[in-house]
Amino acid sequence: MTKRHPVSRREFIKLSGIAGSALLLSRCSILSDNNPLSTATNVIRSQPLPIPELLTGTEIDGKKVYDLTMRRGSMVFVPGKQTATLAYNGNILGPTLLMRKGDEVVINVTNQLGEPTTTHWHGIHLPAAMDGGPHQRIENGDTWQARYTIMNEAATYWYHPHLMGKTSEHVYHGLAGLFIIKDPQSELALPDRYGFDDIPLIIQDKIFNADGSLNYPSGHEGIKGDHILVNGAVTPTFNAPAQFVRFRLLNGSNARIYNFGFSDDREFHQIATDGGLLEKPVALTRLRLSTGERAEILVDFSGQETSQVRLVSYSSELDNINPPWLSNALDKSTFDIMTIHVNSATANPITTLPGSLASIDRLQESQAVKTRSFELEEGFSVGSFSATFTINGQTMDINRIDETIQLNDIEIWEVINDADMPHPFHIHDIQFLILTRNGSPPPENESGWKDTVLVMPRETVRVITQFGEYADPDKPYMFHCHILEHEDAGMMGQFVVV
Ligand code: C2O
Ligand code: CU
Ligand code: CU
Repeated sequence: MTKRHPVSRREFIKLSGIAGSALLLSRCSILSDNNPLSTATNVIRSQPLPIPELLTGTEIDGKKVYDLTMRRGSMVFVPGKQTATLAYNGNILGPTLLMRKGDEVVINVTNQLGEPTTTHWHGIHLPAAMDGGPHQRIENGDTWQARYTIMNEAATYWYHPHLMGKTSEHVYHGLAGLFIIKDPQSELALPDRYGFDDIPLIIQDKIFNADGSLNYPSGHEGIKGDHILVNGAVTPTFNAPAQFVRFRLLNGSNARIYNFGFSDDREFHQIATDGGLLEKPVALTRLRLSTGERAEILVDFSGQETSQVRLVSYSSELDNINPPWLSNALDKSTFDIMTIHVNSATANPITTLPGSLASIDRLQESQAVKTRSFELEEGFSVGSFSATFTINGQTMDINRIDETIQLNDIEIWEVINDADMPHPFHIHDIQFLILTRNGSPPPENESGWKDTVLVMPRETVRVITQFGEYADPDKPYMFHCHILEHEDAGMMGQFVVV
């Protein structure tokens, strides 16, 4: 198969097969779903869906200024117990930052965690020095100021820590928030009343100990919880108005991939991908969303007053999504995310689906000056029984630049998954278009701008992008797997634009 990597899982299974089933069994118990189950038995569910505070920014000298403070917080998930959390400003997650295309923004990020971290602006096109990746460390007590101009298309983006080796732990404990970017040039008749018919949904999974604390198993290959949280509440309820409602879905989980749908199998329409609106609404009954990805959907509740429906994940329908050693019970089932109660409509509801949404300026393959290949692999060190996750045979080295790109070049990146598990591949700075999945064009709902793409086992995904506007030979951007435990284990590389 390939170079430098130790022993792949498949090879290892074969090897252990030779030695007999006893060894295979012991290997499986070492690597098996070591996702512990919650020992808390009475976790509070079905609370009303919390809506993160919306920050519109304070105008100062023509710039919009936002303040975020990373702090330790406390929540109650188990009656009578405190759950220690990390958060931006509040006690879990962070405020939603509302910005407009063209805004010059200043974000002051203060770290009061008691330990270093960073804050990265996932999906935003910006100078590398402002990216908030592993190189922009914020020491405890410091404030880091990020300044950039919003060039992104109207869509949903997010922010989260990105310190080497610590991203998964920091996100798991609650550090994550959304951006909503609007484009004043294209006002479409879409639901846009935040918290009423325009609803952010940050979906995560966690494990609760009986004392209320979050169980964060370390040295893990992909933490999957047995409790699903939306905006920081466990399987909450939402009162939807009887009209078209826009949900902005973020898979903010460490490792879980969802297959969203509704309990009555109703059709809904996807209108946006990670980095912009689709050309037209795409009718779906299922929406697969891997970690880091966003999707905006419209759901029609018109005339459905007093009815109820559940947003669920039809996870058992996902083929090939989990090798046995990383599956837990939820992966083999359909489970609830949120219960929706339909109430009366608001004034001036949106009652029609727009026929078209946006025009996408498609980069052509013939414009690409270079194709780069990225091979994703899982290795298994027999001696240490630990997993390695590599890209092109290497793990992340903060002192190594892996790729150097010429400013304004259009390139094709070919991501090859040689591994046994799916890996969501994310590239900083840019938005890309998927050219092919195993040689075929992507499904319609993936035909818009993206910054994260799920690459299934034995799949090759080719994407095209342009590295415009920002060059800095000294400051790299990252590309990595967005399963946070894989990223922390080194499934990440660095590129500079020069
Ligand atoms: Cu969402 Cu490099 O990150
Ligand atoms: Cu990112
Ligand atoms: Cu991965």
